[in-house]
Amino acid sequence: MRPYIVANWKMHGLLADLQEIAAIDQAAQRCDHVDVALALPATLLFSAADAVHMARIGGQDCHQKEQGAHTGCISAAMLVEAGASFSIVGHSERRADQAETSTQIAEKAQTLQSRGMGAILCIGEDLPTRESGGAEDFVCAQLDRSLTFDNGRIRSDNLTIAYEPIWAIGTGHVPEIAQITAMHDRLRAELVTLLGERGHTIRILYGGSVKASNAQSILALDNVNGALVGGAGLKAETFIPIIEAA
Ligand code: PGA
Repeated sequence: MRPYIVANWKMHGLLADLQEIAAIDQAAQRCDHVDVALALPATLLFSAADAVHMARIGGQDCHQKEQGAHTGCISAAMLVEAGASFSIVGHSERRADQAETSTQIAEKAQTLQSRGMGAILCIGEDLPTRESGGAEDFVCAQLDRSLTFDNGRIRSDNLTIAYEPIWAIGTGHVPEIAQITAMHDRLRAELVTLLGERGHTIRILYGGSVKASNAQSILALDNVNGALVGGAGLKAETFIPIIEAA
């Protein structure tokens, strides 16, 4: 599977940062065996899409409805018009801050797919769940709910899963390699159970404090097919070594 390295800029980035995007795009052109993507704030999409040749540009959320009275939200059609080809859905920060449910997240992914866009669907456990020993069961149940749409399953095409333990996001604490391996192997098996043989073709990204110094050992794992990178994805200087590690 082609590795997929995605920067999640969260609520960071102004027009002045387009030079970082241009530099990251140059690395994407150089490392053409890697799919490189940037999930940007909506205000940067138009200009970023203009500035890149190779890197994919995407959003960080997409409303499940086509349009309507949803103040402050962005639709799939708006994302497409702004130059996005994918969006993150269900990031743990949105599950927490905007109280998004797995059912809504499945709807969002379905809406993106119906527009021909990619969905990067995030799942992950908090620290008490990890410490209780129930992380794998919790994350698999969350995956199951987040893939359930209208009592059926969302499509497997244009779908990427990102496993991000909440306690690893922005903390510098990365799970042990054995824990990442166990979770990703379990998620692969779960995807095949839920979606059939096509579950083998879905990329599973790891996210949470990925940086140049740990990228190689994480990306070398069998069922780790890429990374979702927050802090280290904001600057070309820290993001490019992760692309190169892939
Ligand atoms: P981090 O964030 O790399 O800063 O830990 C990852 C994410 O939230 O996607």
